[in-house]
Amino acid sequence: MLPLTGHAACEGHGYAQELPREPQSAAIARRFVSDALRAWRLDDVDLDNAAGLVVTELVANAVTHVDRGPIRVSICHRPTTRRVRIAVADHSDAVPLLRAADRDAETGRGLHMVNELSGGRWGTDLPAVGKRVRADLRVGKIDTPATSNGSIAV
Ligand SMILES: Nc1ncnc2c1ncn2[C@@H]1O[C@H](COP(=O)(O)OP(=O)(O)OP(=O)(O)O)[C@@H](O)[C@H]1O
Ligand SMILES: [Mg+2]
Repeated sequence: MLPLTGHAACEGHGYAQELPREPQSAAIARRFVSDALRAWRLDDVDLDNAAGLVVTELVANAVTHVDRGPIRVSICHRPTTRRVRIAVADHSDAVPLLRAADRDAETGRGLHMVNELSGGRWGTDLPAVGKRVRADLRVGKIDTPATSNGSIAV
């Protein structure tokens, strides 16, 4: 794991890992976030499960909806806000949007799950190249929904 020291998006401690844009990277990313949580002694089972679901979905989205470049998975612990930020960067600047809920649709649920698990605290940053989709998970008790949504930067 590469330390994320000095990274603008991470005021606390962080790690990042570059991975190929392929389905197998989801399992590596889950292990990566679990290892980071354990290193920070944040290996609470609910947080670990939520982090695993979120990073799986964000990696799957980069694999499914992007056609170029590797991905970069990062995790950042912000003790002051009691949040863990999970992000997946890719080489496309297309901004993901929540699709309208449709019971019969076969796709379009992944970001709704990210939205739920982060209490609405997710969004997209646009660096010089590509984008970074991030979600903030609460450390400790179950989160309450925020009024913000994915289109608002935090
Ligand atoms: N990394 C990404 N790059 C570009 N577009 C994205 C990315 N992630 C999501 N999107 C867009 O946002 C939409 C909603 O994403 P979401 O994950 O909710 O649904 P899905 O990936 O289409 O289906 P599901 O997650 O249910 O398999 C996608 O259909 C896609 O158009
Ligand atoms: Mg998806």
